[in-house]
Amino acid sequence: MIFRHLQKSFIVWPICRTLSQKRRLEEHYQHAHPETLVFHGDLRMPATVQKIANMCKKKNVSPYAVIHCSGPITYTSCSIPEWNIWEKQTEDNLAPSIHLIKTLSERMKSGRIVMFAFSGVDTHRGFKNISAYAAAKESVVVLARAAAKKLADKGITVNVIAPGVFLTETGKIPAHGKTMLPSIPANRFGTSEDICGVVDWLLSDESAYVTGQIIKVSGGLHI
Ligand SMILES: NC(=O)c1ccc[n+]([C@@H]2O[C@H](COP(=O)([O-])OP(=O)(O)OC[C@H]3O[C@@H](n4cnc5c(N)ncnc54)[C@H](OP(=O)(O)O)[C@@H]3O)[C@@H](O)[C@H]2O)c1
Repeated sequence: MIFRHLQKSFIVWPICRTLSQKRRLEEHYQHAHPETLVFHGDLRMPATVQKIANMCKKKNVSPYAVIHCSGPITYTSCSIPEWNIWEKQTEDNLAPSIHLIKTLSERMKSGRIVMFAFSGVDTHRGFKNISAYAAAKESVVVLARAAAKKLADKGITVNVIAPGVFLTETGKIPAHGKTMLPSIPANRFGTSEDICGVVDWLLSDESAYVTGQIIKVSGGLHI
């Protein structure tokens, strides 16, 4: 959804994990947006991001923005150490963030980096079923803040969007959201428009002096 939305104003290079998704996007966009380059790869692998950096070099272009919105949630108990889930969460959430910032910021002249966490970050509370996910997302925030300091003099801002509970693209309530509506002060789940509006602002000139911040888009969940 963010990809489709951004295509109205930017040339976007999405990264797909499966070849079938890559082909589907290429077929769909080749006429309306022939400049769209669709990459295939797993963001947990540094080579995936390196491919994009190499293409920037080949085409002699600098990315204006990097928007990193992968990072699936995995449920785990905090009382029983399920180490494989902790490792998986680090791999799924932190590793891609490191590869993207490290490799692509070198090619950026100025611009924006936007990472995704979840609305429970920075609340200093324990989470019963998502402790590994929460820890990985806290690490993404710490990384984003460190990068914000390092990259500020290049005119690159680094911020984190922290969503609450969002409807899926087909308008369904996600499995983890079913019992959460009473905890959301806005009394509704988030929609893709709620996220796209914040992404637009973070990519605009109006947010040029905002860096190292977490923007919670949650209807008040976890405040
Ligand atoms: N959805 C929510 O309610 C919610 C709430 C709080 C925070 N968030 C955060 O917001 C962000 C977006 O949420 P989402 O539910 O759309 O995330 P998601 O489940 O990770 O899916 C986003 C896309 O990223 C792709 N992807 C995942 N891991 C990848 C990898 N290693 N390499 C390449 N592509 C990969 C997925 O591809 P596949 O289709 O192949 O899996 C999918 O197309 C995530 O960081 C999430 O943690 C979401």
